[in-house]
Amino acid sequence: MADLMDKLVSLAKRRGFVFQSSEIYGGTGSVWDYGPLGVELKRNIRDAWWRSMVHMRDDIEGLDAAILMHPRVWEASGHVAGFTDPLVECKSCHRRFRADNPDIVGGQCPVCGTRDAFGEPRMFNLMFKTFMGPVEEDAAVVYMRPETAQGIYVNFQNVVTSSRQRIPFGIAQIGKAFRNEITPGNFIFRTREFEQMEMQFFVEPGSDDTWMDYWMTARMEWHTETMGIRKEKLRFHQHGPDELAHYAKRAFDIQYEFPFDWQEFEGIHNRTDFDLTRHQEYSGKKLEYIDPADTNKRYIPYIIETSAGLDRTLLVVLMDAYREEEVEGEKRVVLRFKPALAPIKVAIFPLVKKDGLPEIAARIHDDFKAAGVNSFHDDSGSIGRRYRRQDEAGTPFGITVDGQTTEDGTVTVRDRDTLEQVRVPSEGVVAYVQERVR
Ligand code: GAP
Repeated sequence: MADLMDKLVSLAKRRGFVFQSSEIYGGTGSVWDYGPLGVELKRNIRDAWWRSMVHMRDDIEGLDAAILMHPRVWEASGHVAGFTDPLVECKSCHRRFRADNPDIVGGQCPVCGTRDAFGEPRMFNLMFKTFMGPVEEDAAVVYMRPETAQGIYVNFQNVVTSSRQRIPFGIAQIGKAFRNEITPGNFIFRTREFEQMEMQFFVEPGSDDTWMDYWMTARMEWHTETMGIRKEKLRFHQHGPDELAHYAKRAFDIQYEFPFDWQEFEGIHNRTDFDLTRHQEYSGKKLEYIDPADTNKRYIPYIIETSAGLDRTLLVVLMDAYREEEVEGEKRVVLRFKPALAPIKVAIFPLVKKDGLPEIAARIHDDFKAAGVNSFHDDSGSIGRRYRRQDEAGTPFGITVDGQTTEDGTVTVRDRDTLEQVRVPSEGVVAYVQERVR
């Protein structure tokens, strides 16, 4: 099981899903780049989330707030004072670790083996700092946001006024977040730059437990139905009193069984009225909601947050899709993505590079382009090898143009998972694939 991660990292690089950032310079610590296939997969996951959270619902609005915010935001949110990890440093090799690192046993440095290696932990703030304007002074410090959520809270009144939404309603946002993690790792699982898909649902106090239950069900269903993740690999983990964030009344993680452990990739939190109350206090602006049906009814809404990591969800999707199978006596590696998530939806292969077959294949490729379906034209190597390459990319359909195509206008469509091949008229093949990709 542990070597699944190694296989996945190697496949991701070989096939162009994920590359190490600045690799030619030796890499940047825990920052990753998405290659040609990775960027498509990431876009498809992002679009699926946006569609189900924003486009398919009348009670959620979208937002795209800036990464750099007023520094007071992070005082109000509690991040300046409390978004810290305890850090210890080995007095011999000077490696730094989170004080709760399980590899530190009996005060011994897990890298150089020095005994009694560490002093008292010091608290290390995980926010990246930079300066606004040309002068590098304390007054000019701004932070790279460590979560997208705060951009939603500070825009709460703007969205209420401009969209005329009534509580209960939500605001959704997808964007980059940055954390100067002390011990990042496990490929794209924990990185210093990542993307979050967050939705904040504003509700009347008292209805928060019901909405929390609703969103737990809805989010778990999205992962199994829309992302296609196997149910048995998913579970909820409830935060105990010592795990609960300072703002949370109740919190659940959706965990996946990674090769290294069960770990969170989405959090669902009842944040109460903590955030809006704090922003009201720090900004001096009223952030209460006035019920339009009864203007005497005013309150600071409670917030149910669903917070998923896009990169971590991509890792789950990639990992869950990975299979090694035996086909006709040969081993194949296949990524069984849901067709809607696959980076390439269909590959088109002329059986041979003559008899007009490449021209027909090129025409079909153009038809897919015109229909907005991402397709790939490959005419090199044996047909078996071409199938294998697409299996590794997770392409759900392969179309072969052969001698019979010139006679009766049909092509073969091969299904990545069942390996079934059917003949379909070439004029109808775009619609055939589109229907199955949806
Ligand atoms: N607004 C709430 C919040 O940010 P979180 O549990 O700290 O909650 C939510 O983060 C999600 O963001 C996590 O479940 C994870 O998927 C993703 N995430 C957090 N830190 C990350 C990191 N360093 N690298 C990659 N993803 C991360």
